[in-house]
Amino acid sequence: MISVLFVCLGNICRSPMAEAVFRQMVREAGLEKQIRVDSAGTGGWHEGEPPHRGTREILETRGISHKGIRARQISREDLDRFDIIVAMDNSNLAALRRIADQTSADLYLLTDFIPGTDRTDVPDPYYTGNFEEVYELVEAGCRGLLQRIRKQEGI
Ligand code: 4NP
Repeated sequence: MISVLFVCLGNICRSPMAEAVFRQMVREAGLEKQIRVDSAGTGGWHEGEPPHRGTREILETRGISHKGIRARQISREDLDRFDIIVAMDNSNLAALRRIADQTSADLYLLTDFIPGTDRTDVPDPYYTGNFEEVYELVEAGCRGLLQRIRKQEGI
């Protein structure tokens, strides 16, 4: 079993979108038993809330389930419990590195998995309002991540 945790700031816009999109891709590939998927925020202001309306709408129009997803704040234990931790932007990555110290988890940016892109950050739609742009980056990043895992794990 390989585990993936997507991380953003509030865990209501970007990382729950990535969780839902990636879970759907994993399901379509028949790999639910091999790949575990979750998301969390570096901040805890929205703890217990469902995804932001903008994220829900983007997912619903594409038939992607967000059932049961609720915001939670990342804990130090998450860094040991997950194999691959994927930050949505450089500020999330810096926050993760501050709490990571001796973690064995591998820390990445989502854009690391988008071939040929010059983007490094998934812009925060909580401020930009642009959920479409987030979806396009999330979709491309999740596709690249799944390919990478399948190749590495031989699954
Ligand atoms: P997210 O967006 O990190 O993509 O979930 C945000 C959601 C809430 C806040 C900031 C960013 N906030 O400050 O409450």
